[in-house]
Amino acid sequence: MSSFQRTLSAFVLLLLSNTVHGATFQDDRGVVHTWDNSVKAKIGVEATLGGISLFHMGMQAEQLAAVWGLWGIRGTTFDPENPSAGSNFPELDPGPEEAAFLSSAVNLSPSCYTNPRGCWQVDNITDLIALQDQIDFIVNVDNGYDYSMIDIEAAGFKVIFVDTYFDYHENCRIQNFSAPDRSNCYGRSAIDIARRIEELAVFLGVEVDQDAINQQKQDMCEAATEFTDTMEEAHEKGLRIKVSWLGIGQDEETGESYAELSDYDPIELWFPRTMEELGMPLLHSDDIYDYDEYAAVPASAYFNTCEPGVYNEDCNGETLFPVDFWLFDPRGSRLIDDNLKLLFPDRALLADQWWYVPKNDGPISYKSIAAYLRGITPKIAAAQKLRESTQECTPVDPRDIGHLVLDGTGGLPLNGFVCYNRDLIQTEYLKCPEGSAPVESPAAPSASTPAESPVAPTPTELAPVSSSEAVPTSDGTTMSGAFLMVAAALLVNAAITI
Ligand SMILES: *[C@@H]1O[C@H](CO)[C@@H](O)[C@H](O)[C@H]1NC(C)=O
Ligand SMILES: *[C@@H]1O[C@H](CO)[C@@H](O)[C@H](O)[C@H]1NC(C)=O
Repeated sequence: MSSFQRTLSAFVLLLLSNTVHGATFQDDRGVVHTWDNSVKAKIGVEATLGGISLFHMGMQAEQLAAVWGLWGIRGTTFDPENPSAGSNFPELDPGPEEAAFLSSAVNLSPSCYTNPRGCWQVDNITDLIALQDQIDFIVNVDNGYDYSMIDIEAAGFKVIFVDTYFDYHENCRIQNFSAPDRSNCYGRSAIDIARRIEELAVFLGVEVDQDAINQQKQDMCEAATEFTDTMEEAHEKGLRIKVSWLGIGQDEETGESYAELSDYDPIELWFPRTMEELGMPLLHSDDIYDYDEYAAVPASAYFNTCEPGVYNEDCNGETLFPVDFWLFDPRGSRLIDDNLKLLFPDRALLADQWWYVPKNDGPISYKSIAAYLRGITPKIAAAQKLRESTQECTPVDPRDIGHLVLDGTGGLPLNGFVCYNRDLIQTEYLKCPEGSAPVESPAAPSASTPAESPVAPTPTELAPVSSSEAVPTSDGTTMSGAFLMVAAALLVNAAITI
């Protein structure tokens, strides 16, 4: 090569390395998005599941164009006007930094963003459309039930969907966000979602601070280790734990109030699934494996040996679920007071053996997983066994999908729970960044994917998180590989013409 050619080739390579950053992200409907991630994409996003999660991955205010929805989890006392005052769910609600991040953006839910009963959508899609030239992507981290996303996509926005319910499978979600055939849908564990959000942050051009993320992962793995040790002790004590939503109903004829539970399978939400994978003795539900419905259980159906309408400590020994510790939805947990204890004198409730579990809201990040596990661990460590329970545990793999299916092929029965087996604990949570394979490892399996997984790994799962500039495309070549071929052709051309 002449020195001119050398200069020219160096120039072409410089040009390429500075301008070519084609990243791809296949979302959980299978839609493939592309973005030059040397540029920081601007997004519109629901505040907690997407917004705060991405903030934990390093997103700064300059990328946040618009937010909607409640800023804390449902039932929160968090006040956006006074973020340093704290709230009732400090593990998952925003702190002053998260609040400053959210308040930097246009608020598209001014009518409800402080309403603890719930707030999920933009008040008026017209307000979002007015921001169209300032928004590169709408990020929808959710369970697929926000149908407004269909309208938002139809209005011309690129919507990136990250599923909080199911692992990606080509035959699970379809493009309109629904999952009509659930036979290929498998519940996600929190770490699966956090990893997807980390990948998404890289795709969106967030300057991910690896040291800060590793610190979060370190904290998470320490919290998870302490948690699983506590679960082993919980099994030794014979504790039984149940997820339920709590409500107060009113008898149509008498007008009297009554307490009502719902029978909810623990595998349906990411934190219960996470905690079962880490050994929590969670009671399973009976007749339903249905993400759309749950069975209502009024007090009359719960207390086996009480007269209907007369519930007290003399007859509260035998109940439909042999619960020693409850995990209630955050909003329902705010109903717990002396009045509720009269309506529902359950032993675990009277002993204040309960905590909250979020119901498809709040951030999902290494940081929030650590905070939640650190919050619940001492509560369970302090809990006592309160009632007889004869049912034995079932020796299945908590990471396996087999025990999740209630179609007669291996689901757990009513009040069944998984035995503690240290060898079967989900080790993805226990791998500390120091001295273990990091999340970027191309061979790292998805956390909730069992050993004999029917779920084929997706191209995104194989993509190294830290180098999405070279994300594999579906035909196996890489973006930067394709550009290098173009570069080589240019150089050959240049050599011929000179
Ligand atoms: C949304 O905003 C537009 C423009 O301000 C207005 O015409 C329309 O009535 C609003 N829609 C609703 C449902 O409030
Ligand atoms: C999504 O598409 C499926 C299949 O075409 C259809 O049955 C379903 O009603 C659609 N859902 C929505 C919310 O449009």
